[in-house]
Amino acid sequence: MLSTRFTQHSLVTEAHKTIQGTLSATSITLDATMGNGHDTLFLARHSAKVYAFDIQQSALDTTYQQLKDHHLADKVKLIHDSHAHMRQHIPANEQINVIVFNLGYLPRGNTEIITQTKSTLSALNQSLKILSPSGIISILCYPGHIGGQEEMIAVIDWYEQLDNHQFAITIIHSMQETAQSPRLFIIKALAQRYI
Ligand SMILES: C[S@@+](CC[C@H](N)C(=O)[O-])C[C@H]1O[C@@H](n2cnc3c(N)ncnc32)[C@H](O)[C@@H]1O
Repeated sequence: MLSTRFTQHSLVTEAHKTIQGTLSATSITLDATMGNGHDTLFLARHSAKVYAFDIQQSALDTTYQQLKDHHLADKVKLIHDSHAHMRQHIPANEQINVIVFNLGYLPRGNTEIITQTKSTLSALNQSLKILSPSGIISILCYPGHIGGQEEMIAVIDWYEQLDNHQFAITIIHSMQETAQSPRLFIIKALAQRYI
C-alpha cells in the first residue's frame, strides 16, 4: 500500500512524530546515520536501547556528548562503522522496532563525506532482515546535493520493489516543496511478516 501526505513541520520533526507512535519503553531502535546525534538522542529518549552508526569519529564524539548531557549514554551503543555492516553488530536473534536513515552529509561537517547509494541500499536491505513486525524504517533523502538525487531515485526504486502485502509505504512532502527539497519515506512492516 502506498500513500502520500503533506506536512507543515520540518521533515525531521515529522519523522520523529511518526516514529514516536510505535515506540515504547521496551523498544530497540537503530540510527543508521548518527551525525550530530539529534535522531540518536530522540531514539534514546523513547526506547530501551539504540544502536547508532557513523563512519566519522567526530559524529560519535558529538553524539556521545549530547547523550551524556542528557544522562542517556548508557542506552546507546555508538558504532564507528558503515551502516552497510549493520548486521555484524546486531545479535542474530534481535529484532529492531525503528530504523532511522537521515541521508546526506553531516551539517557543519565535511560536505564531501556523504552517504553513498550502494551502501545505503545494502543497509536498507539488511534493515528489512532485522525489522520487527509492525516496525518502521524512516528514510529522509536530500536530492539537493551532488549525488542526492541519484540516491533518492535508488531509494524509490528499492521501496517500489517491496511486497505490498508486507509493507505499507508513506511518502511525506513538505508544504513548501521544491525539486531540491528533502523527501521523507516511511516504510512500515505489517504485523504479520514472512522474512
Ligand atoms: C545528514 S547526517 C545525519 C544527521 C543525524 N541523524 C543527526 O541527527 O544529526 C548524515 C550522516 O551520515 C553519515 N554517513 C555517511 N555514510 C555513512 C555510512 N556508510 N554509514 C554510516 N553513516 C554514514 C555521515 O558521516 C553523516 O554524519
